[in-house]
Amino acid sequence: MKVLILNGSPKGEASNTMWLTNAFVAGFPDTMDIEKIHLREKELHPCMGCFSCWTKTPGHCVIQDDMQEIYRKILEADIIIESIPLYFAGMPSRMRILTERCLLFTKRYEGSPEDTFHSILEMEEHSLRKKRLVIISSCGYVSMDTMFEALTKEFDLICGNGNYTKVLCAQGELLQAGNRTRQVIHYLEEVKKAGGEFYETGSISEERIRILNTPMVSPRTFEVLIKRYWRERMELTETSSENKKE
Ligand SMILES: Cc1cc2nc3c(=O)[nH]c(=O)nc-3n(C[C@H](O)[C@H](O)[C@H](O)COP(=O)(O)O)c2cc1C
Repeated sequence: MKVLILNGSPKGEASNTMWLTNAFVAGFPDTMDIEKIHLREKELHPCMGCFSCWTKTPGHCVIQDDMQEIYRKILEADIIIESIPLYFAGMPSRMRILTERCLLFTKRYEGSPEDTFHSILEMEEHSLRKKRLVIISSCGYVSMDTMFEALTKEFDLICGNGNYTKVLCAQGELLQAGNRTRQVIHYLEEVKKAGGEFYETGSISEERIRILNTPMVSPRTFEVLIKRYWRERMELTETSSENKKE
């Protein structure tokens, strides 16, 4: 079984969301072949909207950049995990580029009212249907309320409702190593268990989803921790600019 992790955070391995993603795959057996791609390290150009992948070069993109290598890795993978920090209620730009560049995995839409996005996501020569997709996202807001609605709606439309697995986490800034509280460590253990369940059964149990959807700390504690976090970051910025002046 091959697992491909696509990290959409511009922070690379220092991403909050990658703490969740690494915990999730830690629940898989050691024998799994896991590859990680940090999109920020890749040369990725936006889709030009030329529809060549539906016309001149069916199933192939005419843009010659690192996406060509990523297409191959997507096709080789059994499980694709997208690690997506929430930016303005949606996916960050590199993940958006990757998503748009996946138009070549869809069939040409020829106007049938019965076709949904999901039903055209099926090229015979390179089908994604048998692959399993996991979306792992963190956001900075205190709770899950409404914040992930747009992102999950987007994946519901693209993949078809229920055709992907999601791990969504509020209070993302707490995942940074410096902020490790007992609750964060416990939360990451639950994410690892979710990974184990997903490996065993192909889904995450209702009970685990309930736990993961519960914010790591209470709103009051979050406010205290997050204020301290920003204060410390401000102090760090001031110290480093003073050092530069000297
Ligand atoms: C440009 C930008 C936009 C953001 N937009 C949102 C948002 O709409 N809602 C939210 O709750 N958090 C938002 N955040 C906070 C991030 O979702 C949060 O810090 C997340 O944990 C970052 O993950 P990463 O470290 O993996 O990149 C935003 C952060 C940035 C930098």
